[in-house]
Amino acid sequence: MNSLISARQLTPEFLGEFFRIADGMVESLSRHGASLGAGHILGTMFFEPSTRTRLSFESAMQRLGGTSLGFAEPKSSSASKGESLADTIRVVSGYADALVMRHFTDGAARLAADFTSVPFINAGDGRHEHPTQTLTDLLTLHRLGLYGQDMKIGAVGDLKYGRTVHSLVKALFDTGATIYSAAPETLRLPAELVEEAQAKGLNIVDCDSLEELLPQVSVVYMTRIQKERLDEGEDYQALAGRYVLTRELVEQHNPEACVLHPLPRVDELAYSVDDLPTAKYFEQAHMGVPARMALLAMLLGLVRWRQESLPTPRELHGERPASSGERCANTRCVINCEVFAPPLVWADGAGKLRCSYCDQELD
Ligand code: NCD
Repeated sequence: MNSLISARQLTPEFLGEFFRIADGMVESLSRHGASLGAGHILGTMFFEPSTRTRLSFESAMQRLGGTSLGFAEPKSSSASKGESLADTIRVVSGYADALVMRHFTDGAARLAADFTSVPFINAGDGRHEHPTQTLTDLLTLHRLGLYGQDMKIGAVGDLKYGRTVHSLVKALFDTGATIYSAAPETLRLPAELVEEAQAKGLNIVDCDSLEELLPQVSVVYMTRIQKERLDEGEDYQALAGRYVLTRELVEQHNPEACVLHPLPRVDELAYSVDDLPTAKYFEQAHMGVPARMALLAMLLGLVRWRQESLPTPRELHGERPASSGERCANTRCVINCEVFAPPLVWADGAGKLRCSYCDQELD
C-alpha cells in the first residue's frame, strides 16, 4: 500500500510513471466516461479551508467513475468532540478505499499515514508540505514542455510558511534546477530546506527584486503571504505588497516567462497579468484534475506502475524513536498537539536530527 506524504517521495522514476498516466488522463478528460475507478470510494477530510484541492480531488474521483464522501468543515467531524486524529483516521479508513486529508498541524500527514489501512494522500499539512499541488505544478510544466533538467524557476512571496513551495523545492532535488528566490527578509526559505536542497545539487539564488529575478528564469512561481500562518508579531500589512507581479514588470523584464501560482491570489499577482499568453495559473488549477486522477488511479492500483518508485519517507531517510531529551520544539507540529503519538527523528545528510513529522531540526 502506497501513501503520499512528502514531495521527497517523488523520485524521477515515479514522476516518469506519473506523467505517462496523467497524459492519458488529460486525453480521457476530453473523451469523458473513464470508468477505471467504478465502485471505489474516496474519503476526504478537510480540517482547513480549501477550494481547488478538495474540489479537484472530488472531480478526479468522479471522472474516474468512483464516488467520494467526507467533510470540509472540522466542526462537522468528531474532532470537535475531542477525538484524536489517529482515531479519526482509523475509523474513516474503514469507510473508503483511499483517504485525502488537509490538516492545520505541521506533520499531520506523516502521523495519519501510520494509522490508515488504505492509501493516504497529504492535501496540505500546516506550514509543512503540499505534495499534490506539486504534482499539479509539475504536470503543468510537463504539458507546456517546460519540465526537465536544469530548470530556472523563480519562487516569489512567502517561502517560509508556503507549503506549496516547500514541496516544489523537494520535488526538484536532483534535477540540477536553479531556484531564484524573492521573499521579504523574514519569509525566506527555511535554512534547513536550503541546506538540504544545496546538498542535493539544487542551486538557490536570492534576489532582492522582481526586476532582478525575472530576466533569469523561464518560470515564475508566485505565492501569497500566508496571513493565517504568521507568528505573533509578524505584520501582514508590512509584508504584503513587497513583491507584486504586474503586467508591466513581465513585459519589461521577461515577456517569455511562464507565470504560475497555486492560487488563491491576494495582492501579489495583478489581474492585468491574466491576459498575457504566458499567464498559466488557471490552466495550472485545471491540471489539478488529471494530476489527481493519475495519482488516485496509481494508489488505488487501477493502472500498472512500478510501486517501488514511490518510497516511503522512512525508506528514504531512515528513522528512529526519539530518546528522552530529544523533543521537537515546533509548537505547531502534530507531535506537540496529539500527545499519544510516538516522537520520531531522522538524521539529515549533515548529521542534524530532524523531527520525522514536521522535518524541523531539533534544538
Ligand atoms: C495553497 C495551499 O493551500 O497551501 N492552495 C492550494 O492548495 N492551491 C496555497 C495557498 O493557500 O496560498
